[in-house]
Amino acid sequence: MGEINKVAVIGTGTMGPGIAQVFAQNGIEIHIFDVKPEQLEKARESLDRNLTLFAEEGIIKKSDIDQILSRIHTSSSLKDAVEGVDLVLEAVPEVPDIKTKIFSDLDSIADDGVILASNTSGLSITNLAKVTNRPAKVVGMHWWNPPIIIPVIEIIRGEKTDDETVRTIEALINRINKIPVLVKKDVPGFLGNRLQYALMREAIALLNDGVASAKDIDTMIKAGIGFKFPVMGPLETIDMAGMDLYNRVSRYLYQHLNNDTTPPPIVNTMVENNELGLKTGKGFYDYSGIDINKLMGARIKKLITLLKDLEYVK
Ligand SMILES: NC(=O)c1ccc[n+]([C@@H]2O[C@H](COP(=O)([O-])OP(=O)(O)OC[C@H]3O[C@@H](n4cnc5c(N)ncnc54)[C@H](O)[C@@H]3O)[C@@H](O)[C@H]2O)c1
Repeated sequence: MGEINKVAVIGTGTMGPGIAQVFAQNGIEIHIFDVKPEQLEKARESLDRNLTLFAEEGIIKKSDIDQILSRIHTSSSLKDAVEGVDLVLEAVPEVPDIKTKIFSDLDSIADDGVILASNTSGLSITNLAKVTNRPAKVVGMHWWNPPIIIPVIEIIRGEKTDDETVRTIEALINRINKIPVLVKKDVPGFLGNRLQYALMREAIALLNDGVASAKDIDTMIKAGIGFKFPVMGPLETIDMAGMDLYNRVSRYLYQHLNNDTTPPPIVNTMVENNELGLKTGKGFYDYSGIDINKLMGARIKKLITLLKDLEYVK
């Protein structure tokens, strides 16, 4: 497989539209498809909104918006979307049955050499590959939310993914000005979600045990240990602090860290009460009376400032 020049993005919910935008911004033709036509409508609206924001922030030129949009084609069927593409990226819900059905359908529709990638947050790439006749060409390509902002994309090698597929996806990620990280073993949750869920599990346990308020736990990360993360990762942080200190602290601390193997009861209760976070107006925080679009807009603007300061945008 040479260069990827045409991509199909299947599923345009939270992730699909932003992924399509990044490809199109970097000169790649995109076909988008969703089983719900209204989702494709919403995708167009979010593309317009985000491209306008990017132009206002000087990341793209306003005069380039029409050309970027002209690279994004809406398809009316899966077959239509996959026609003539080099790569299919699936971004349908994180439900194993839906994913395996899509992979089996894609395998029968797409030409033999086409790479089939999944944006799954942590399901087994090896298992998805098993329902196809091209396991060597099945790979994880895990974007982070919001995909128009977050620089990193995980490449997950399934048990049978071949080197050429990994190299092709890596070259594509570099070409679209993102940063690839290679997950060499297909472990549940890959790299990012394992690290993130370890932190979130501890955060919820500390809240549940009354050790601190939700706000102070978040501030501890945002203005404390997380403040360093764009510059120093956890392993670099240990090297800075000293292995001897890490060893001494670990000896008394590890045994106290949360190691629950099921979601905490507080989260189950909140789900039962429809306290799902921003989307229902209540989660760990109460968002009633708050303009969610404004809140998210302000967060995205701060992230764009960070992107520029850290020279992730050229
Ligand atoms: N939301 C996030 O923050 C996030 C971050 C990283 C990765 N992911 C992963 O990306 C994937 C998509 O997540 P999302 O949050 O965008 O989901 P979503 O539920 O917001 O969107 C999924 C879309 O897929 C469509 N769909 C369902 N079945 C389909 C089918 N058979 N063919 C075509 N379209 C179909 C739905 O109509 C919907 O528009 C999941 O695997 C998820 O784990 C999500």
